[in-house]
Amino acid sequence: MKTVAENLIGRHKSELMTPCLLLDIEAVDKNINKMAAFFSSLECKLRPHAKSHKLPLIAQKQIEAGAIGITCAKLQDAEAFINAGIDNVLIANEIVGSEKIRKLIDLSGRANIIVCVDSFDNTCELSLAAEEKGQKLDILIEVDTGLNRCGVAPGKPVLNLLQKIMELNRINFRGLMGYEGGLFIMAEDEKIKVCRQRNRALVKTKELLQDKGFTVEIVSAGGANTYNITGLCPGITEIQPGSYVTMDDWNKKYGLDFEQAITILTTVISRPVEDRAVTDAGLKAISTDHGLPRIINRKGITVQALNEEHGKLTLSGQACELAAGDKLEIAPTHGCTTIPLYDKYIAIKDSHVVDVLDIISRGAVY
Ligand SMILES: Cc1ncc(COP(=O)(O)O)c(C=O)c1O
Repeated sequence: MKTVAENLIGRHKSELMTPCLLLDIEAVDKNINKMAAFFSSLECKLRPHAKSHKLPLIAQKQIEAGAIGITCAKLQDAEAFINAGIDNVLIANEIVGSEKIRKLIDLSGRANIIVCVDSFDNTCELSLAAEEKGQKLDILIEVDTGLNRCGVAPGKPVLNLLQKIMELNRINFRGLMGYEGGLFIMAEDEKIKVCRQRNRALVKTKELLQDKGFTVEIVSAGGANTYNITGLCPGITEIQPGSYVTMDDWNKKYGLDFEQAITILTTVISRPVEDRAVTDAGLKAISTDHGLPRIINRKGITVQALNEEHGKLTLSGQACELAAGDKLEIAPTHGCTTIPLYDKYIAIKDSHVVDVLDIISRGAVY
């Protein structure tokens, strides 16, 4: 019996059952190469965030193009990528709870893992679990440079935590992480100003630790939206942009100039009145946390609302000729939350299917 992939390879995308998630392989390659080229001559290295794409093939391509490893947000992502052969993973998050910590230590015996901490108690638990297995664990202290999420306040509080952590013999302090990437500010001058302020707080903290005799090998920051500001900031050693590789309309709106590599293919299922069409892609096919998506292959169509399994479109001009059965292609506003709605990417080149690729670590992951 033929596999799903064998059945689909070679078909034109217009023949696919919908809704489905298309991945333009050439656009992915262009995006990977563009980001890699930016960092090729810089001191700052690239460690792309893989929670955005959840695809080992992309992670491998990013590493082949020069990335020093990948970043993950969750333990299950890290596990899935390690199982797929990626051996250098930063978990840009705190891992809390004995079961998860045990799993983290197991994984760190199989790959080069660095994990973030922002509390002494959690670091103690990590150290004890590492000791049980006769291992050491690499950590970064997460610094809150203004996102108001996890992390220790910059400066003295980081020094205080590090001085206590140094008493733990199974913890290997590697450096600092401060994520300032969520700077979605329209005015470029303002964005640059705030981004530099936040990075300065991180780099000054590094300098404070160095003055006290600590070695700070890694200072990690940055997202897609700030890659060309943070990547040039003296003292930042690596950055962790994610969504540039698949792209979405949210990043596009804030000026990120990469190719749209993911789209959702949908079919018109009903034409109840002249200016309304309904598709088979609703909230279970496209996320809306960053707003309603955009139809890219026909003019005169606005996505008016998404219900669970229905997309309601408003039509104008020539788009009123749209018929049931017509296929439309949609650019999501947020790729990272749309991708895990699917089991598979349908990889496309020149409008034809070239591969079917499993999306790993989907759903509510640990
Ligand atoms: C800690 C951290 N680093 C990097 C990223 C990547 O962000 P982006 O997809 O905007 O590049 C995120 C995204 O949420 C994040 O939380």
